[in-house]
Amino acid sequence: MANKVKVSAPGKIILSGEHAVVYGFPEILCAIDKRLSVEIEEGEKGLKVKPDQGKTLVEYALEVIKKKLGLNGLRNLKVQVDSQIPIGSGMGSSAAFAVAITGALFEFLKLPRSLKKINGIAYEIEKKQHGTPSGGDNTISTYGGFLLYRKETETFKVFSPLKTKVLPSICLINSGRPEESTGEMIKTVRDFIVKSPKKSEIIFKEMEKITRGFLKFLSGEKQNFGDLIARNERFLEDLGVVSLRTISLIKKIESLGGAAKISGAGGVKGNSGIILAYHQNPKVLLELANKEKLDVIDVKLGAKGIRNEQS
Ligand code: MEV
Repeated sequence: MANKVKVSAPGKIILSGEHAVVYGFPEILCAIDKRLSVEIEEGEKGLKVKPDQGKTLVEYALEVIKKKLGLNGLRNLKVQVDSQIPIGSGMGSSAAFAVAITGALFEFLKLPRSLKKINGIAYEIEKKQHGTPSGGDNTISTYGGFLLYRKETETFKVFSPLKTKVLPSICLINSGRPEESTGEMIKTVRDFIVKSPKKSEIIFKEMEKITRGFLKFLSGEKQNFGDLIARNERFLEDLGVVSLRTISLIKKIESLGGAAKISGAGGVKGNSGIILAYHQNPKVLLELANKEKLDVIDVKLGAKGIRNEQS
C-alpha cells in the first residue's frame, strides 16, 4: 500500500505575556480547535505542493527537518497543506505548519513519534522564519491544551500544562491581517528595548504580574478578568505593537463596558490581527463586530495538540 500520512496541529491564542516571553518572562497560551494539516505521500518527479503558494515554505521546512534528522534524498514528495487558521493573524498558523509538517515527516519515515523532537525541530523552522521567537507558539501547537511557558535560555525552555477550573469566555474578533510579519514585530519590540531599556523592563515585570493574575483566574480564584485583559492591552500598546486603528476598536469595546487585547505579535501599520474581547454580555461584542464589518471567529479553547489524521 502506498505510504500516505496526514498529521494536523492546532492554532493558538495567547492569554497573556506575548513579546515579554521573548525576553524570559512567562506567558499563557491556549490551543484552539482551528487546525492545519499536512499530508505527505510518495511522488514521482520532485516536490509537488498543494496549494502552489505553499511551495517555498514547504521547501524551507523540509530543508530544516532533513538537516536536523541528518537525511538525504526525499526529493519526490507530494505535500498537501490545508488550514482552518487565518494566516499571519496571531493565531499561530506558522507554528501549526512547522509542527504538522515535522510530525507528518516523522510518520512518513516511520520514525518513533517524539513530541520533544518534533517540537524542537518546529522551533528551528520558526526561527528560520521569524528570527528570534520564544518557542511558545510551536510548543502549544505540539502539546495542546493550556500552557504556562517560559524561555529561560535558548536551550532551556520550561512549560507546564494548566488544569483550568474556569474557562475564559472570550470572543475572537479579527481586526484584519497585519502588514508586518511576526519577525518584524519582534524586531519592533527589540528596537523599543534598545531605546527605552528601563521602561521596557517595567512593562515586562508588570506583564508578568498580569500573567500571574490570569493563572489565578484559571485556577478558580476570584479575579477581574476584564481588568486583566485591559491592563495587558495597555502594556502591549506601550510596547508599540498595536495599530491606531485597533486601539480605536478596543476603545469602542471598552466604552461599551468590555475589554480587549491583541493576541500574538500584533501589527502597527494597519491591522493587528485577532483580538481577544470580553464582555459580560457577549451579544454586545457580536453587534459591534457586525457594525464594524469584522469577522468573529468561533473557537473552543484547550484543543488537542499534534494529531495523526490517518484513518
Ligand atoms: C507570537 O505569536 C508571540 C510573540 O510573543 C513572539 C514569540 O513568542 O515568539 C510575539
